[in-house]
Amino acid sequence: MLVQPIETQRLVIRRFTPADWQAVHAYASDAGVMTYIPGGAHTESQSKEFVDKHAGDQPEAFPVILKTEQQLAGHLIFHPWYAPRSHEIGWVFHPAYHGQGYATEAAYALLRYGFEELQSHRIIATCQPENPASYRVMEKIGMRREAHFKQCIYRQDNVWWDELFYAILEDEWFDRNKSWSA
Ligand SMILES: CC(C)(COP(=O)(O)OP(=O)(O)OC[C@H]1O[C@@H](n2cnc3c(N)ncnc32)[C@H](O)[C@@H]1OP(=O)(O)O)[C@@H](O)C(=O)NCCC(=O)NCCS
Repeated sequence: MLVQPIETQRLVIRRFTPADWQAVHAYASDAGVMTYIPGGAHTESQSKEFVDKHAGDQPEAFPVILKTEQQLAGHLIFHPWYAPRSHEIGWVFHPAYHGQGYATEAAYALLRYGFEELQSHRIIATCQPENPASYRVMEKIGMRREAHFKQCIYRQDNVWWDELFYAILEDEWFDRNKSWSA
């Protein structure tokens, strides 16, 4: 997917190239940024491995570039979920770029791509209830909260996390986009 980059007003979403690893490492090595990402903060070799993997034939993560600065500000994940024409979407951005609507702008564009180019039927996203920045993005792009699972993710040392589950269906996307945009 994403053979051609997606362009929004301020952003370009494209495929990774191996040279992107340092820009990814700048935020993926930050334990604060990675608090809610499985595996936590990256070492250098994990950032290189991550970028190399998604620069390959079957990418499931896509860098987001600020047009004005030509700077890689974060990435989106997007990959098949457990049913035909179903996908999961997610996001991680460098803290220098938080709070400026970039994740919302990028995620909205990728939802559009999912529904309008890939003919996705349902796109889901999950996060922890302690991560309002993430579920606000879900809400701003039109996803519905479907569930609050209690203590469903085991971390370590007997710590269990809750998980919020959001989704949007193709019918909802097309109905809403008759008269609505983020
Ligand atoms: C989640 C993340 C990608 C959001 O990126 P972003 O570019 O700052 O997102 P946006 O600016 O588009 O929107 C963020 C929204 O969250 C809100 N928000 C941020 N922190 C908040 C908080 N502590 N409490 C309530 N709302 C909060 C912002 O106000 C904004 O909503 P608004 O437009 O209604 O005011 C970013 O915070 C991040 O990279 N976090 C670390 C990685 C992560 O946790 N990823 C998600 C894993 S599930």
